[in-house]
Amino acid sequence: MSSETGVSAGLGTRLETEPGLAEGLARHRQEHLLRWWDELGEQGRGRLARQIEGIDFGELDDLIETLVRHEVVTSIEPDHIEPIEVSRLPTTDADRAERGRAAATGADMLSAGEVAVVIVAGGQGTRLGFDGPKGAFPIGPVSDRSLFQVHAEKVQSIGRRHGHAVPLYVMTSPDNHAATAAFWEAHENFGLEHVRLFPQGQMPAVDRGSGRVLLAGKSCLALSPDGHGGALAALAAPRPDGSPSYLDEMERAGTTTLFYFQVDNPLTQIADPAFLGRHREAGADVSFKVIEKQRPDERVGVVVTVDGRPDVIEYSDLPPELAERRRPDGRLALSAGSIATHVFELGFVRRLVEGGADLPYHRALKKVTYLADDGNVVKPNEPNAVKFEKFIFDSLRLARRYAIVEADRRLEFEPLKNATGSESPETVRARLSDLYAGWLEEGGVTVVRRADGLPAFPIEISPLYALDAEDLRDRVQPGLVADRPLLLS
Ligand code: UTP
Repeated sequence: MSSETGVSAGLGTRLETEPGLAEGLARHRQEHLLRWWDELGEQGRGRLARQIEGIDFGELDDLIETLVRHEVVTSIEPDHIEPIEVSRLPTTDADRAERGRAAATGADMLSAGEVAVVIVAGGQGTRLGFDGPKGAFPIGPVSDRSLFQVHAEKVQSIGRRHGHAVPLYVMTSPDNHAATAAFWEAHENFGLEHVRLFPQGQMPAVDRGSGRVLLAGKSCLALSPDGHGGALAALAAPRPDGSPSYLDEMERAGTTTLFYFQVDNPLTQIADPAFLGRHREAGADVSFKVIEKQRPDERVGVVVTVDGRPDVIEYSDLPPELAERRRPDGRLALSAGSIATHVFELGFVRRLVEGGADLPYHRALKKVTYLADDGNVVKPNEPNAVKFEKFIFDSLRLARRYAIVEADRRLEFEPLKNATGSESPETVRARLSDLYAGWLEEGGVTVVRRADGLPAFPIEISPLYALDAEDLRDRVQPGLVADRPLLLS
């Protein structure tokens, strides 16, 4: 390697020559990464060297030891696990008054410009199989507006309502950053004043048998995004041009609190004032929105306490004995299903990332296409590799205080995950139409519905037209009948 590549050593020494690089890799038993070095031109060598440089091999050795060489057995002891206290949906006047007070607190936070919105959109969207960033997927039931547009219009509308523009931060990955940036640019940021796109970190995939880092090609490693939990470190990272991190930028602008959600759920009540208010009133570091789990096999993580401490158990780790545990009234005992919608205190994020208590990595067993030692590209039929990912919900365990707030699933949660079947474009559009139909009905409009209860025609309301049922009420004429596709924008 020539010194012009500007590569400094993540391997303990300054690596100015290929032997130096090889030596460093050999110490970590990853020297095969240079197998094709002699065939590479200057550009390929530079690329490979930069990728290798980006890896903390000391940390990787530990992960391989703990998450690859040894089978992870998550020991969950049912006797130690209890339901967590949830702030339930209001059912009485007193509940409604209490919720109203929380919403007023949240509205004050928004008016004071204390809230920034963070969307995580760095995932690979493998199940959906869409050719482009998932946020660009056309989801509007009538207009085909993209997921990003739905979110952006909400952010704009919230800013207008509270008299203070809300800054938006969108996490991408190195793989989809350019396409995501081009999409936002083509749409002129959907009219938003303050939008920042920032790529998350990457981690190498390693062979599950040997722990060797996989090559995607002769001059590139098999890298993948480091999980949605990577958002916290990515926000705190200095920017490539040396300017302050986005966390610094937020802090200077007076942001105290982050509203975080996933790009795939267009029903997210972005910056929901009642949620923000409950978080603030609880003096929480982090807060979670949950829905009540209906079936033991539902694929959402559950928020629980373990020996009295808050925690989240992934659906795949929840033993049937616990998943099926019921209360005397027949409802599931562990029913607080996380919808990955959170509020974070900025100071808490800083403490985690800068105070050395960053989120841990988990292992994900995946099929990863790779370049074999004989030079052939192998597309495995079975999971062959371990990827390392951080999960945002691990932050709960590290919080001093927290609030867990119930959401109405019908109004707030239908993520776009699959191409067909459940959580697919069809179900998401149907749920959006149903939500907007409900708003129209509250305003006195008659909506023609099918036998299964869903609207007979697609209905869509731009968040710029109305943000909720109350907003819409003054804008529609009671007595109207929605008996054909309807778009209000
Ligand atoms: P999922 O785990 O559902 O992944 O991410 P995905 O990429 O959308 O889809 P599959 O699993 O490949 O089919 C949930 C949310 O977290 C974000 C995704 O963009 C989505 O909003 N995410 C996930 C990231 O931002 N980065 C990651 O590394 C992983």
